[in-house]
Amino acid sequence: MSDWKVRRAPIIHTELSVPGDKSVSHRAVMLAAMSNGACVIRGFLPSEDCLCTISAMRALGITIETPEPETVVVYGNKRKFVPPVGDINCGNSGTTMRLIAGILAGQPFRTRLTGDASLSKRPMKRIIEPLTQMGATVRAEGPNDRPPLVVEGGPLKPLHFFSPVASAQVKSAVLLAAMFANGKTTVTEPSQSRDHTERMLEYFLVRPIRDGLSVSLFGGQVPESRDFAVPGDISSAAFWLVAAAAQPGSHLLIRNVGLNETRAGILGVLVRMGAGVREVHENDEAEPMGTVEIRGDRLKGTVIAGKEIANVIDELPILAVAGALAHGKTVIADAAELRVKETDRLAAIATNLRAMGAQVSETEDGLEILGGAPLHGARLSSFGDHRIAMAFAIAGLFAEGETTIEGTECVSTSYPNFEETLQKVMREAAEPETPVITGLPAS
Ligand code: S3P
Repeated sequence: MSDWKVRRAPIIHTELSVPGDKSVSHRAVMLAAMSNGACVIRGFLPSEDCLCTISAMRALGITIETPEPETVVVYGNKRKFVPPVGDINCGNSGTTMRLIAGILAGQPFRTRLTGDASLSKRPMKRIIEPLTQMGATVRAEGPNDRPPLVVEGGPLKPLHFFSPVASAQVKSAVLLAAMFANGKTTVTEPSQSRDHTERMLEYFLVRPIRDGLSVSLFGGQVPESRDFAVPGDISSAAFWLVAAAAQPGSHLLIRNVGLNETRAGILGVLVRMGAGVREVHENDEAEPMGTVEIRGDRLKGTVIAGKEIANVIDELPILAVAGALAHGKTVIADAAELRVKETDRLAAIATNLRAMGAQVSETEDGLEILGGAPLHGARLSSFGDHRIAMAFAIAGLFAEGETTIEGTECVSTSYPNFEETLQKVMREAAEPETPVITGLPAS
């Protein structure tokens, strides 16, 4: 088990880039695999989760080359796949399992999808129901509809699915199955979740029809092969954004980061909390991307709830840390989904914040944090969850004394070089001659 030792280094004055977007990397490989030719994907995230998607597509007969870790060439096979030899192991990746189940629902063979201990505890009923209604046979072997999943696909019928949860994974599983259905399938969600699948379908010249919270797709379309550039992951940037936002005098610039508004809710939350935030969009072709600049300030508490939750779902651990560093109360509500992520994130956040001296109470679907109390170093668990490990490494930058994060190997699922950047930030804080960074031009 690997640990990190983090020492106090609250001032950040630097320019960073972040690795490719995880959600977009998964989808780029899947859509390219269904396309009618070769697609070069640049800026791919070579993390364990996304590598599981590459292995899964290879197991289904797709040729994929990786001339460089971040450059992937996928040879699309016009929506044709072959039965895999043995199980497909999705590792820790819920996105791999749920989205691939959608593709497999339309294939005339049987596939067994397995995962690690954490993925084996995650709910699958949410995709089993719609895919079964479309005509596939999907069986969960674990208790309470937990993985492994056995998918026996075949001819699919269209469906209008009203998803009970705002989940991009559920929406995407149904949309990918819809590609193989005979007619028009619609998914309606309770609030807007990330729309990467819709955007990527459009980019590959498949035509989803969007209407408010509904998206429809006619089956039978073949994605047109195209090269794709993956933006930097705003969820990985989030750790550094909060580190800079919470300290008056800090200044951070992150370039080439995804600014899709269904994902970038953290920027609005940081503005409400009092940080100086500026964003410049530089390319909006498939996915909006550009530069974000943060100037730190004395943060104040805020309320994060309702339909905003889906747009900050992966950022809530680090936003809870921001809440602990802010003055006043921060309330996170309507976030029960956090209980079924890589770990029960609400419980993990509350446990670790308390261990550092913060005042937190846990509700059924959120947290109430009374911020402003000085944090102190502690021995903390990652709970095997990459975002908990990284969020509390950032908390450690603000704490008196040393913070140890135990079990940090899980970070390689989404951000393999996080530790390198953490070391750079701690080193630069210790050396007074930090580099001069050119901010965004005044607007
Ligand atoms: C993801 C969607 C979100 C998110 C996950 C990645 C995706 O999950 O938490 O990290 O790539 O579609 P849900 O769709 O289950 O909310």
